[in-house]
Amino acid sequence: MAQPVLSVKNLTKKFGEFKAVDNLSMDVEKGKITLIIGPNGSGKTTMLNCVSGLYAADEGQVFFRGEDVTKNKTHELVEKGLVRTFQVSSPFTRLNVLENLLVSYGLNSGEKFKWAPFSSKWKDEEKDAMEKAYRVLELLEITELAHDPAYTLSGGQLKLLEIGRALMTDAKMILTDEPAGSVSVILAEKIFSHIRELCRNQGLDFLLIEHRLDIASKYVDYVYAMDSGSVLSHGKPKDVFEDIKVIESYLTVKR
Ligand SMILES: Nc1ncnc2c1ncn2[C@@H]1O[C@H](COP(=O)(O)OP(=O)(O)OP(=O)(O)O)[C@@H](O)[C@H]1O
Ligand SMILES: [Mg+2]
Repeated sequence: MAQPVLSVKNLTKKFGEFKAVDNLSMDVEKGKITLIIGPNGSGKTTMLNCVSGLYAADEGQVFFRGEDVTKNKTHELVEKGLVRTFQVSSPFTRLNVLENLLVSYGLNSGEKFKWAPFSSKWKDEEKDAMEKAYRVLELLEITELAHDPAYTLSGGQLKLLEIGRALMTDAKMILTDEPAGSVSVILAEKIFSHIRELCRNQGLDFLLIEHRLDIASKYVDYVYAMDSGSVLSHGKPKDVFEDIKVIESYLTVKR
């Protein structure tokens, strides 16, 4: 593999004495959609929380585009283009979809605030933000929702808005926990086809957790299967889904 876009090396995260993530290593290839699977409680979300700066890992390192970002806080990672959807998700429910996109614009460019006193520059910024928001709406095919308040959106539409808000930050890589969780099959397919489109045509890399394997398997390029905080198997989707260790891990009831 060329230099991985994201590299996790020997990551451990403990809660008390319990290792939720246990010496986990993973390389995520550029230009790919990488899926993390594993039974409930296998440490997927905890791992993503460490990678996205929400939790400090007890041991190990995280590299993003070759840079050691282990100690970076979430906002520093966003500035570098590594964005976790739920951190920009919880939408402002009283704002409409367009406004929700606009407030995410420039989250990864501290530069923009410097321009505030210079009104012509500021107007250019507003114009850029608006144009970008409409491009994102079109890309996600939610232009008709632009003026709907966020509280009126369905679960699946909210997931699309989460992705849209990440795109407004100029994300280079998106980390997302269950993008198709609790949405209809049709919308889940739509969310995944947008993810594929963003990866193939916009150059965005994705690392995502998903339990809807029937749907996710059609769209992802590579799979890591976790169990008890470690990597159990990794490879092409078909190979991992047919790996007996992976099948057994889903069948074993953890105590
Ligand atoms: N903040 C916390 N404090 C203590 N234990 C935690 C905490 N967060 C997670 N755990 C424990 O760590 C383990 C891994 O949890 P995690 O949420 O990462 O699993 P998961 O693979 O994302 O599961 P699911 O598929 O159900 O979302 C579980 O045993 C969980 O109870
Ligand atoms: Mg989880």
